[in-house]
Amino acid sequence: MTYFTQCTKLCQCFLGQSEEYFLENNKERKMTLLYIVLLQSDSVSLEYVGDSAMNTPIFDFLKDDIYDTVYEPSEDSFLLIDALENDLELIRKLNPTICLEVGTGSGVVISAVSKVFPSAYCLATDINHVAALATKKMAETNKVIIEPVVTDLTSAVMSRVLNQVDLLVFNPPYVVTPSEEVCTQSLQAAWAGGIKGRQVMDRFFPFVPKLLSSKGLFYVVVLKDNKPDEVTEFMCGQGLKMNNVLSRCCGIEHLSVLRFENG
Ligand SMILES: C[S@@+](CC[C@H](N)C(=O)[O-])C[C@H]1O[C@@H](n2cnc3c(N)ncnc32)[C@H](O)[C@@H]1O
Repeated sequence: MTYFTQCTKLCQCFLGQSEEYFLENNKERKMTLLYIVLLQSDSVSLEYVGDSAMNTPIFDFLKDDIYDTVYEPSEDSFLLIDALENDLELIRKLNPTICLEVGTGSGVVISAVSKVFPSAYCLATDINHVAALATKKMAETNKVIIEPVVTDLTSAVMSRVLNQVDLLVFNPPYVVTPSEEVCTQSLQAAWAGGIKGRQVMDRFFPFVPKLLSSKGLFYVVVLKDNKPDEVTEFMCGQGLKMNNVLSRCCGIEHLSVLRFENG
């Protein structure tokens, strides 16, 4: 029985709701119901509930002025965390040993990962050296261990983690911009994606099969304008299969988190 099914059964038992009521995998509702279950049952431990969720790391210690240089945790960051949370049972089954985030920014996503998988070795890259410092601070504040590395994509860590990454995540610069706006420094590097918004992510995709372990999972945030079908076609050509884990409209942006794994 999955964790969610187990909780659903417990909630049904206490609240008398139908199964359909619980089918929508809505975080707020799930947590509210779990809270109700906790209030009414001595047999469910708090520790168990904590395991089920990816808690948002503490990040308000980062000063506003750092966001002149480093990408502020935003809706796309939280969408990626939510997608990982949706897949938590699947990821847990991997018992991940090495987790790698490309383009870590403030470090909010990899810190959320490390909080759930404290024994995994967590690496985080960014081309922006201030982002690496922010990630270090984020890790310290949230009492997790992350190794930040300043590099283009994964070039500096590639040889160390070849075919060993169990969990690979990337919230890339995806905004469609003129090609010349793609850059390597400053805040613009966080969002300017060039043609189809894909100039940075397209450079990374060929490395994904080389990084992933045989059971590894790769999660990437894409915008509708990035033409996710073309991304999927390329990755399938590399022997990977795709699942769309989560989609959400964030303002004018329609974002999705795609999961790729060995087919
Ligand atoms: C959309 S932000 C995401 C930040 C963070 N992961 C989050 O979700 O909040 C994209 C990040 O990728 C980084 N980045 C851009 N180009 C890169 C490259 N070539 N190699 C490594 N990181 C890059 C940016 O500096 C930025 O921190």
